[in-house]
Amino acid sequence: MNIPSGERTVADVMSAPVVTAQPAETVAVAAQRMHDARVGSVVVIDHDDRAIGILTERDMIHLAAAGSDASTAKVSEWMTPDPDTIASTVGAAAAFANLAEHHYRHIPVVDNNKLVGIVSMRDLMRVAMIQPADAQAHEIPKGLEGVVVADTTVGDVRGLEGFYHYRQYSAVDLAKTRPIEDVWQLMFTGKLPATTAEREAFAADIRPRRVLPNAVAAVLPAIAGAGETFVPLDALRTALSQYGAALGFRASHDIDHAELYDNAMSTCAVVPTLICALWRIRQGLDPVAPRDDLAYAANYLYMMHGEVPTPEYAAAVEKYLISTIDHGFNASTFTARVITSTGADLAAAVVGAIGALSGPLHGGAPSRALQMLDEIGTADRAEPWLRAAVERGDRLMGFGHRVYKTDDPRSLMLRDVADGLGGDKMELARHIEATAVRVLDELKPGRRLYTNVEFYAGIVMDRCGIPRELFTPTFAASRVIGWCTHVLEQAADNRLIRPSAQYVGPPPPQPVPPIGA
Ligand SMILES: CC(C)(COP(=O)(O)OP(=O)(O)OC[C@H]1O[C@@H](n2cnc3c(N)ncnc32)[C@H](O)[C@@H]1OP(=O)(O)O)[C@@H](O)C(=O)NCCC(=O)NCCS
Repeated sequence: MNIPSGERTVADVMSAPVVTAQPAETVAVAAQRMHDARVGSVVVIDHDDRAIGILTERDMIHLAAAGSDASTAKVSEWMTPDPDTIASTVGAAAAFANLAEHHYRHIPVVDNNKLVGIVSMRDLMRVAMIQPADAQAHEIPKGLEGVVVADTTVGDVRGLEGFYHYRQYSAVDLAKTRPIEDVWQLMFTGKLPATTAEREAFAADIRPRRVLPNAVAAVLPAIAGAGETFVPLDALRTALSQYGAALGFRASHDIDHAELYDNAMSTCAVVPTLICALWRIRQGLDPVAPRDDLAYAANYLYMMHGEVPTPEYAAAVEKYLISTIDHGFNASTFTARVITSTGADLAAAVVGAIGALSGPLHGGAPSRALQMLDEIGTADRAEPWLRAAVERGDRLMGFGHRVYKTDDPRSLMLRDVADGLGGDKMELARHIEATAVRVLDELKPGRRLYTNVEFYAGIVMDRCGIPRELFTPTFAASRVIGWCTHVLEQAADNRLIRPSAQYVGPPPPQPVPPIGA
């Protein structure tokens, strides 16, 4: 590589000797060494001093966020194995470009297989004078993984344990034992109903709010009919904007808790009605009005098909709905909180959250997981199909999770539910799950990829007669309760959420060039 004369090389700016760790040491020991040496990473070396991994502050954040114990976790479990390295002779600018491109913050410097130093983004920025080093106030991982951005009493996810909870109760236990209105009450008020009278009072508050206001019903045909392809979640998003306007929702900044709570109750109650009405209208069918004598999920399926479902299907869908009400600071929940932090009205927060949910990396996957099942078709095709997909770099839909590094408890529960319902897809699904987990373990070692909620959610919804295009809207029908709970919490103790970004483009100010001929 040609280095302009006078330009400094990695050797000039790297730190040496390097703070190192052994793979078998505990993370706590390595962290103490990092702390004592005031460095942001340790290079993990083997007995021949070869760099076999790197453990960074970011990994510590991951570990803490996953609720893991640093005093027992091994460095080898949390390090990034086989890190990219750089030679000491490389120019600082090229090294900077390398780090920036790969989003590395530290890179070991290796000459002739021997670790000779470590260079950080901060070191390179300082010499390349690209950005003052003090502009990087913190080491914030891309995607904000593990970064704590708020205090919450709504619930949490413990990724390594495979456990999540609403308030102080296991969400899975709630799904197995309570109707959704009880859980909704827990979310909104902080308390489960203790008596049937308390349960009934809350459910009675919900029922009338399920009915569509005329100003909204009137515009649904236009919304449902727009576009060549019908995307129900987009239609729901549009209808909810109209709903907020029709009910006169005001800026959360200007209203008290009681009014915001009232907006939240109405919005959560009306979402299932809107989903079913829009879907039916698009098919040339009349919307079906909600029925007060039916339980929550039974009424949802009834508004969808105009027939009362079997108790098994209604119970299965209700469990699914409860299990997806909330799940930590996922993208859509965070979106709802960011919007609320500006003082905007509740409909704005929910509409924004729906936008975030619509992406396949978040809520848009269950129908894709089922599509994968269809494409695989038979058990004997699973292994070659899955292997080829992962080797191509495709993501297997319904697998992997930002927080869970073990079985997703929602997936385990829904697998049981799906088992109970039976059906032709179930056997194939279990075979595909087992094969995919094995293939991913082999081809993506150490990434800990298992089924997520979406895999069996698709199977359950399919079995209960929910059409694929309504899978993600059905997810929204329960998650809206979680979003609104977070809106209420954010508004109750608000501070505008306004982070910063680190500028990494060409150094400003450059002269503005004149226009060419
Ligand atoms: C959910 C998801 C976005 C979380 O991703 P993330 O935390 O950003 O994980 P990363 O992108 O850091 O992935 C880590 C590694 O695992 C791999 N990986 C993650 N999920 C994978 C999947 N479903 N199939 C194959 N490989 C996967 C990545 O390719 C990456 O490998 P690399 O280290 O070789 O680059 C991701 O697992 C995914 O795309 N899953 C499929 C979509 C899905 O099921 N969405 C519903 C979520 S509830």
